Amino acid sequence: MPAIPGRSELGEALRSCRNAFIGVGIMSCMINILYLTGSIFMLEVYDRVIPSRSVPTLVGLIVLCAGLYIAQGILDMLRARILGRIGTSLDEAMSARVFETIVRLPLMMGNRSDGMQPLRDLDAVRSFLGSMGPGAFFDLPWLPFYLVICFAFHWMIGVAALIGAIILVTLTLITEFMSRRPARDTLVLGVRRNDIATSSRRNAEVLVAMGMSGRLTKRWTEANEKYLSGNQTASDVTGGLGAIAKVLRMMLQSAVLAVGAYLVIHQEATAGIIIAGSILSARALAPVDLAIAHWKGFVAARQSWHRLNKLLETIPERKEQTLLQAPVKRLSVEAITMVPPGDQRVIVQDVSFALEAGTGLGVIGPSGSGKSSMVRALVGVWQPVRGKVRLDGAALDQWPSDVLGRYVGYLPQDVELFGGTIAQNISRFDPEAKSEAIITAAKEAGVHDMIIKMREGYDTQIGEGGGALSAGQAQRVALARALYGNPFLIVLDEPNSNLDSEGDEALTRAVRGARGRGAIVVVVAHRPVGIEAVDQLLVLKDGRMQAFGPKEQVLGQVLQRVPTPAPAPIKVVSEAGVAKA
Ligand SMILES: Nc1ncnc2c1ncn2[C@@H]1O[C@H](COP(=O)(O)OP(=O)(O)OP(=O)(O)O)[C@@H](O)[C@H]1O
Ligand SMILES: [Mg+2]
Repeated sequence: MPAIPGRSELGEALRSCRNAFIGVGIMSCMINILYLTGSIFMLEVYDRVIPSRSVPTLVGLIVLCAGLYIAQGILDMLRARILGRIGTSLDEAMSARVFETIVRLPLMMGNRSDGMQPLRDLDAVRSFLGSMGPGAFFDLPWLPFYLVICFAFHWMIGVAALIGAIILVTLTLITEFMSRRPARDTLVLGVRRNDIATSSRRNAEVLVAMGMSGRLTKRWTEANEKYLSGNQTASDVTGGLGAIAKVLRMMLQSAVLAVGAYLVIHQEATAGIIIAGSILSARALAPVDLAIAHWKGFVAARQSWHRLNKLLETIPERKEQTLLQAPVKRLSVEAITMVPPGDQRVIVQDVSFALEAGTGLGVIGPSGSGKSSMVRALVGVWQPVRGKVRLDGAALDQWPSDVLGRYVGYLPQDVELFGGTIAQNISRFDPEAKSEAIITAAKEAGVHDMIIKMREGYDTQIGEGGGALSAGQAQRVALARALYGNPFLIVLDEPNSNLDSEGDEALTRAVRGARGRGAIVVVVAHRPVGIEAVDQLLVLKDGRMQAFGPKEQVLGQVLQRVPTPAPAPIKVVSEAGVAKA
């Protein structure tokens, strides 16, 4: 493959296949020499066998040539296999890393619609490497070699072949220029098309209930038509030019034959030379039209390659970090200011507080006041643009994320379960999870009885997104997942939004229990019951901290600010929490 850029991460991965590439190069050399078999056979038959009328010579030649053809076939096959395996090994080397980037990308750049593109890009590179394309590129450099042999036959045959080569190479360059735009357009159109499909699938219930599916189908059809026509343009370019190249090559073969005939008439060459020259010139240019035919894949793979490299540069591989001791003492938040990924708006400003082991913090505030955003910083999901979050004095980014994850339990506002069993979800897909730990977490979350009532108990498959569970059940399973492994910091974002009173009690018990064993628990709540088991309270409004301190004291402050006749304290919390009206 030409133009493999140096020090890029993908380049490094391909470089580890250097020996395989050298092997392919050597095989290409042998294959191209073996390609001469046909011409030499012709030459011998016309110039030696026929004049001498020697059948044994003919038989000998046939046997020899058959052997050479077989060798050529085997080498060709091996070369294609090695190239295919280079593609596979590139994919194997990079896929985990690319997967990691598609997970981290939305947390750094915001949710972009082409989130899956990196995986498709890797596919494009691999499938090009596995196609006939690269073989053609390895054969192309042999063009001059064949031309030299044509010149050796006769200079006029050489000139005819040279002119043909120049025309075909020009055609290749035209293909290159003409297929770049369509390839890029197809990509954009494809992403748009996929977006409609994924979001419709995700929101199927809304579509059906409100009769929107017809309209969405129409949007899909339009996007699909555009995509197909873009794709067609790209194929037309390479297909059309490929056909022209093929015809030109055949014309060239006849032209060389004609030149040869002219030479024979003037007794400047033998019949063997004409035939051999014509076969050879056609052979020399065969890789050109093969290359043109695969140009679409080549351009796609090249664009994918550059896009992927740019992405990998933006999201560098995480370095090995020194393992810190498990946090046991405190969580401190130092003047954090937050901006959502891919955005410029400040949504949380200058929030500072500290919590000692065993404390529980309730976070309240109106909708959109930045509660969820702030707690995302506490668990390291979003990086604050200013300020730091520390556990026992060490900033969160000093921990590798999978290690930090062991000390953190997080229940996001939209629950987010994964396809798999309930046990797998609770144990966070830890392959070495112990049953006791899973059951303990489930009991703490008050969900054990509910689970064992299910037909397959802990081994119930809950489907993608937790589809097989009710909203309240999913929330409680997610609570058990947050509690699993006794993490030091537990952050629950509206953990009771779907709970019944029994669930509320279980939540309160769980928070008390976790605090009792020395954990720090942060609960974002809209309903007063959510903060029953906490002792500290933080009030957020418009991204700023309005109050922080012991619960009773903060509630008192909030009470004073409310001008209406003083309601019961807990009622006020609810008003502070639901002050959206
Ligand atoms: N991913 C995001 N990209 C851009 N803006 C965001 C994102 N998430 C939240 N915001 C914005 O940040 C602000 C605070 O949102 P946040 O979800 O933190 O509020 P909240 O206090 O948790 O609200 P609620 O009580 O409704 O859950 C909102 O104005 C919202 O539009
Ligand atoms: Mg929220």
